[in-house]
Amino acid sequence: MADAKQTATLSFDGKTLELPMLSPTAGPDVIDIRKLYAQGGVFTFDPGFTSTASCQSTITFIDGDKGELLYRGYPIDQLAEKSHFLEVCYLLLYGELPTAEEQEDFESRITNHTMVHEQMHNFFRGFRRDAHPMATMVGVVGAMSAFYHDSTDINDPYQREVASIRLIAKMPTIAAMAYKYSIGQPFVYPRNDLDYASNFLRMCFSVPAEDYEVNPILSRAMDRIFTLHADHEQNASTSTVRLAGSSGANPFACIAAGIACLWGPAHGGANEAALNMLREIGSVDRIPEYIKRAKDKNDPFRLMGFGHRVYKNFDPRARVMKQSADEVLDLLGVHDNPTLQVAKELEKIALNDDYFIEKKLYPNVDFYSGIILDAIGFPTSMFTPIFALSRTVGWIAQWKEMIGDPTQKIGRPRQLYVGKTMRDYVDVEKR
Ligand code: CMC
Repeated sequence: MADAKQTATLSFDGKTLELPMLSPTAGPDVIDIRKLYAQGGVFTFDPGFTSTASCQSTITFIDGDKGELLYRGYPIDQLAEKSHFLEVCYLLLYGELPTAEEQEDFESRITNHTMVHEQMHNFFRGFRRDAHPMATMVGVVGAMSAFYHDSTDINDPYQREVASIRLIAKMPTIAAMAYKYSIGQPFVYPRNDLDYASNFLRMCFSVPAEDYEVNPILSRAMDRIFTLHADHEQNASTSTVRLAGSSGANPFACIAAGIACLWGPAHGGANEAALNMLREIGSVDRIPEYIKRAKDKNDPFRLMGFGHRVYKNFDPRARVMKQSADEVLDLLGVHDNPTLQVAKELEKIALNDDYFIEKKLYPNVDFYSGIILDAIGFPTSMFTPIFALSRTVGWIAQWKEMIGDPTQKIGRPRQLYVGKTMRDYVDVEKR
């Protein structure tokens, strides 16, 4: 726990409380209110956790004003440029970049777990034939606890490690199977001679009748998408994983809870929603109509892929993703695509519009990742499953950190109750 170097004074109702202030290694100081209720008899009120740190962590740091994202201290743009996803997984899980030997060992452990239990194929077949891949993933990942009993004991460090490796290794296989199932094609088994991203692309796009030649530029873009989404400190789905895990639930159940939370359009579902919105806009001349709607207080419409709770300057992931999008689009020569034209024009207009400038709304990572995934050939329904597969390592790293934290307690927020006070039951004939 960070040291308390000074205190904050809180006075109310004739009481004065001295609250310890904790200094982090980076970011604003934190007022420690853990004893507030015991000593002052009051709660704090912070729906949406806009001013509340829910845990201490050493994994990821974001400075939203500077547009900075660090994994274990390393800037995301350096990792996206110089590293690759499995190395980033090692860094997130164990805290340091691996030596060559550690990396080889880690990658071979991941590679040896890429297949799923054969009986899981039957489990997939229980879903409706056109199930959304996210629906399938929530169910299948939750069901892993039924298939892998030997790695569900959270008190055994070895089992925790095996569960982590299994989840990272099998998630591409499960996401690809969910996709294949949704389009009525046979499942494709993983190939362990391919790297993580190429293996995933092949499991999605090859069919028994025709193999899929993985283009290295596409596989690099895919790997970058994984890297850029790998962790993002205490976002909604990660907090969900931690909250689920705080009760002692097994890791597969916790990650399934994270996937369910990620699905929402304000979070991981935004990449799917962003591309659907670009298609709905359809042509450049309709953009002003949508910009007007986004500004209208009485219209719930928002420009999907714009804005972020934490980044109020720019999203550093979006910068790298934009560069990747240009590479992929150049390779595939899809510059005339109407969706892309709408995206480019919308980006230009929004970046120069007073409403968006004042509210600090910039294109976020999901704006560009959707464009890349579309160009690679993924349907929008696969965008959020790909986010889920990338974020799995972050969820696991955060879950493991929580389990090892001696100050960890079951997550149990309090409330500001504004309902009826106690009253007597009224018989039905008197209501
Ligand atoms: N389009 C139009 N107006 C917006 C948008 C938008 N995309 N985002 C925020 N605003 C306005 C909002 O109406 C509000 O205006 P006012 O102050 O006049 O009431 C102001 O900006 C602040 O919005 P907020 O809802 O208080 O901000 P938040 O921090 O709670 O929301 C957000 C962050 C990401 C949920 C929101 O910007 C949004 O809904 N964006 C679209 C969905 C999206 O792209 N999500 C992906 C986030 S990146 C991936 C991830 O990390 O999960």
